[in-house]
Amino acid sequence: MEPVIPDLRAVPRADAYARLLEMQALLLHDSTDAIAGMATLSAMLHHAFGHLWTGFYRVVERDRLLRVGPYQGSLGCQDIAFGRGVCGTAAAERRTVVVPDVHAFPGHIACDARSQSEIVVPVYDATGALMAVLDIDSPVLDAFGDDDVAGLERLVAWFTRTTYVPVPA
Ligand code: SME
Repeated sequence: MEPVIPDLRAVPRADAYARLLEMQALLLHDSTDAIAGMATLSAMLHHAFGHLWTGFYRVVERDRLLRVGPYQGSLGCQDIAFGRGVCGTAAAERRTVVVPDVHAFPGHIACDARSQSEIVVPVYDATGALMAVLDIDSPVLDAFGDDDVAGLERLVAWFTRTTYVPVPA
C-alpha cells in the first residue's frame, strides 16, 4: 500500500518540502518515467498543501507549445503557447515565476476564477532540455514565497536526474 499524503498546511514550508522530498525519493526510487513522476508529484503537492490546481504543462512543440499533463484539481486549459500567461512566460524565459496576485499579471490565463496567486517552475530533463512546467494555483493571495521556490525547484530536479523526454522541434 502506498503511504498516505500528510497534511502539511500547518508545517513550516521548508520542513514540509523536506518531508515531500523524502516521500518522492521513496515513491520514485526505481522509476525513470516522466509521466509517473508528474502524476505522483502533482498528487503529493496538491493534497499536502490543499492547493486549487497542481500539475504540469508539457512542452509538445519546442519553444512553441505547452499542453496539459498530469494534474490534480479543477479542469485545466488544454494548450498554452510559449509567451502566454504565467506558464508560457516561465517556459519562454526558463525561469520560475511567482505571481502574488494573478489579477495584476498582464495576460494571466484564468482556468479557474477562484485562483488568486500562482507559481510556475520550469522542468528540465537529463539532457537539460525544457520538458514541462510545474504550475500551482492557490485560492489565497500571495501564497508562494522563497521556500516554495526552493522546495519546488528541488522536487522537479528529480526529472533532471532521471528522465529523458524527447520534444519534437
Ligand atoms: N493560469 C495559468 C494557466 C493554467 S491554469 O491556471 C491551470 C497561466 O496563466 O499560465
